[in-house]
Amino acid sequence: MTYQLPSTADKAEYVSRKFNEIALKYDRFNDLITFGLHRYWKRFVARQTGLREGERCLDLCCGTGDIARAVIKQHPDAEVTGVDFAASMLGVAAERTRFDSVQWIQGDALRLPFPDNWFAAVTIGYGLRNLDDLTKGLLEIRRILQPGGVLVSLDVGKVRLPLIDVLNRFYFFKVVPKIGEWLMPEQEMFTYLPQSSLKYPDQETLKRKLLEVGFQQADYYDFVFGASTIHVAYKTSAP
Ligand SMILES: C[S@@+](CC[C@H](N)C(=O)[O-])C[C@H]1O[C@@H](n2cnc3c(N)ncnc32)[C@H](O)[C@@H]1O
Repeated sequence: MTYQLPSTADKAEYVSRKFNEIALKYDRFNDLITFGLHRYWKRFVARQTGLREGERCLDLCCGTGDIARAVIKQHPDAEVTGVDFAASMLGVAAERTRFDSVQWIQGDALRLPFPDNWFAAVTIGYGLRNLDDLTKGLLEIRRILQPGGVLVSLDVGKVRLPLIDVLNRFYFFKVVPKIGEWLMPEQEMFTYLPQSSLKYPDQETLKRKLLEVGFQQADYYDFVFGASTIHVAYKTSAP
């Protein structure tokens, strides 16, 4: 049967429910499908925050907390908070971070429980693609960032070399769901993950969107021919 993405109205409930279902297998799945490379990309994200002592960082859609842990490891004097709406993903995050000083909060990325201009950095890994309203999500991130603060987003990107694109699509749409099926039979979430990339903007479009919603100096770094990409954008310093 062909897979149907959830409608915009149903997306948040679907995403939250499905991440709760796969929480215990999520990290293993990521390790397998990226051959462990996601760990390198997440350390790269943490480096882009450029946090200084005492500065606050939010890892949004933190899931099992890889990026938050990478941030606190590289910037032990920063204050790191992880937010996600899936309680089981946060449960795994808290379990794996017993000795680190990260605060985990259950919350919605579109209605964050923080005042304006609160964080020096916001990181988000494979999160923007899962929001039901990307523009609203970016505006909310911009609201809670301090002037001059940085947003660093890791997600899947579009491959520009045609032959590599064909290979990447085959891998992403045919092989990746099979790996998921092997890990958790009958779990459609591993099909949702590649399918959700179809509606997600390519690197240049996301860069333009970031500038449109009021970020400046937006740019991106491609990895594996663009199959993985990291956007870095700064909130304007002037009010
Ligand atoms: C693909 S996982 C990414 C986890 C982690 N950031 C990583 O890089 O491995 C996406 C996460 O985003 C969370 N998420 C999606 N939409 C959200 C929203 N509106 N508010 C809070 N969390 C959300 C999901 O619950 C899930 O844990």
